[in-house]
Amino acid sequence: MIEDAPVVAERFRDEHWPEVEALYLACFGHQTRDAGALARCQREMTGAGWVVRADARVVGFGSVAKPDTRYDFADWQVVEAVVLALHPEARAWVASSGIRAHTTATDWLRYLPGARVGTAVGVDPSWRRRGVARLLAEARIEDARRGGARAFIVSCIQGSGSEVLYRELGFDMLVTVPDHYLGGEDMGVLGLRLGEPCDRDRYVWLQPTPRMVRAWRLRMVVQGGGLAATCGAVGAAWPAAFWWMALLVAWGVGFTWSTGSFRKPGPRELVIPGS
Ligand SMILES: CC(C)(COP(=O)(O)OP(=O)(O)OC[C@H]1O[C@@H](n2cnc3c(N)ncnc32)[C@H](O)[C@@H]1OP(=O)(O)O)[C@@H](O)C(=O)NCCC(=O)NCCS
Repeated sequence: MIEDAPVVAERFRDEHWPEVEALYLACFGHQTRDAGALARCQREMTGAGWVVRADARVVGFGSVAKPDTRYDFADWQVVEAVVLALHPEARAWVASSGIRAHTTATDWLRYLPGARVGTAVGVDPSWRRRGVARLLAEARIEDARRGGARAFIVSCIQGSGSEVLYRELGFDMLVTVPDHYLGGEDMGVLGLRLGEPCDRDRYVWLQPTPRMVRAWRLRMVVQGGGLAATCGAVGAAWPAAFWWMALLVAWGVGFTWSTGSFRKPGPRELVIPGS
């Protein structure tokens, strides 16, 4: 509990960032696999995150992902935990769907319709066990509730102090991602329901990553260039065989087209069956 006033929770503003960055590094610097984590934390926090100030300095921060944030992943962005949090009836379907749980679970969580996602909490070591994280959690949850969110979702090291805190606040464990952190710890994703499960928006969007689009472009260039070079070479060496070659190529292109490999990756809707 915080006894020594004044300790206040306030919305994150850009001028807090230098202090938050130092805190973030002190709390997570050795843990994160992701080089862009700090910049992302800042992007997320602007307007949505909270800090706790005491002794005229920032002693804790709690980031909240903006609902419309989009990130660059290694693969399709899948939103499993959104489904689990807001569509409990879909648990069995998710379990049997073979959807790959991306290790950056907090990233795909943000696609849950109607959910707020708290991403990171860090407290100055000299201020721990004095209620700062609790204050941050309560501020973010209250804010989400006022904003009409149907669920609040967080992730943390399984079995850690923050899991204890979130469970005390009524969160349920939704999903665990083994060996998520650099130290080999498992990540737990916990959810607190704030409203009714959604009765609409029964879908999630899968976004292609820039990597996927780049791979597609490269394929097009290599395939197109290869075909043109082959036709050119055959036409030059055996003019009589050129039309047969062109026919063969046209058949090949038609066949490849029908398999969908020329299609540029675009957003896909994943429909969630349920009552
Ligand atoms: C986890 C962390 C955010 C907790 O911050 P904190 O301000 O010390 O937490 P609080 O004082 O608000 O604790 C609230 C409750 O959470 C639980 N809790 C907090 N830290 C705990 C710990 N180390 N072990 C067990 N329970 C703990 C307790 O139930 C506590 O209530 P109590 O003090 O009345 O027993 C802080 O230790 C930290 O920054 N750790 C490094 C970064 C990190 O792991 N962040 C969480 C992952 S996103």
